[in-house]
Amino acid sequence: MKIGIIGAGNIGGNLTRRLTALGHEVAVANSRGPHTLTALAEETGATPVAAADAAKGARVVVVTVPLKAVPDLPDGFLDGAAEGVAVIDTGNYYPQRDGRIADIEDGLPESRWTERQIGHPVIKAFNGTYAQDILDRGRPQGTPGRQALPVAGDDPAAKRTVRDLIDELGFDTVDSGGLGDSWRQQPGTPVYGDRGDVDAIVKALAEASPERTAEWRA
Ligand SMILES: NC(=O)c1ccc[n+]([C@@H]2O[C@H](COP(=O)([O-])OP(=O)(O)OC[C@H]3O[C@@H](n4cnc5c(N)ncnc54)[C@H](OP(=O)(O)O)[C@@H]3O)[C@@H](O)[C@H]2O)c1
Repeated sequence: MKIGIIGAGNIGGNLTRRLTALGHEVAVANSRGPHTLTALAEETGATPVAAADAAKGARVVVVTVPLKAVPDLPDGFLDGAAEGVAVIDTGNYYPQRDGRIADIEDGLPESRWTERQIGHPVIKAFNGTYAQDILDRGRPQGTPGRQALPVAGDDPAAKRTVRDLIDELGFDTVDSGGLGDSWRQQPGTPVYGDRGDVDAIVKALAEASPERTAEWRA
C-alpha cells in the first residue's frame, strides 16, 4: 500500500522502518527537505520527498510532527492522496513544547484541533505509544498479552484501514470511539503510555477523566 509519512523523527522514523519492512511503499518527509533523509531512505528503501508531495497517491498518510508544526504543513498537501485516504494523527499537545493553544486549553480534543488545521478528518493513533515499542513490541496475532493501541476517529472506513495496518505492525487495537471522545487517550490519561492488552486498554479508557491532570500540567 502507498503510505505517506510526514515527520521523520522518533515515531515517523520507526513507522518508516516497520512499514517498509512489511513491504509497503513509503514516502517520507520532514521539514528540512528530502536531501536530509538519505540515511533513512538508504536504510529502509523509503522514498524521501518534500512534505507537499508525501501524500501523493497514498491510501494512508501519517502526520507525526510536533503539534505546533501542524499549521505549517503545506496548503493542500492531501490533495493528491487516494480517494478515502486515512490520515493518522499521532500528535500530543504539550504546551511546554507547542505553546499555549487556547482551543485545546478550553477542552477541544487536540486531534479535533489538528483536523481543523489540516482540513481533513483524522484518526488518532500511536499517540500514547513509545516510539521504540513500534520496533520492539509487535507480536503475531493471538499472542497472549499482545499490546493494544486505542484508535479514535469518526470515519469507520478510515478507522478500519488504520486498525488493520496496526494489526500488521503487530499490535491489537481498541476502538476508542469518535474523535470527540479522543480526550480519553490524550497525555495524562490512564491509557497514555499503557502497554497493556485489549482488556487493560478498555479498562484504562473507561477510567479517563476529561480534566487534565496536575502531572501533565507540570
Ligand atoms: N516520541 C514518542 O515516543 C512519541 C510517542 C507518541 C506520540 N508522539 C507524538 O508524535 C508527534 C511526533 O513526535 P516525535 O517524537 O516523532 O517528534 P520528533 O522526533 O521531534 O520529530 C518531528 C519530525 O517532524 C518533522 N517536522 C517538523 N515540522 C515539520 C513541518 N512543518 N513539515 C514537515 N515535517 C516537519 C521534523 O522534521 P525536521 O527534523 O526536519 O524539523 C521531524 O522529522 C508529536 O506530537 C509527539 O507528541 C511521540
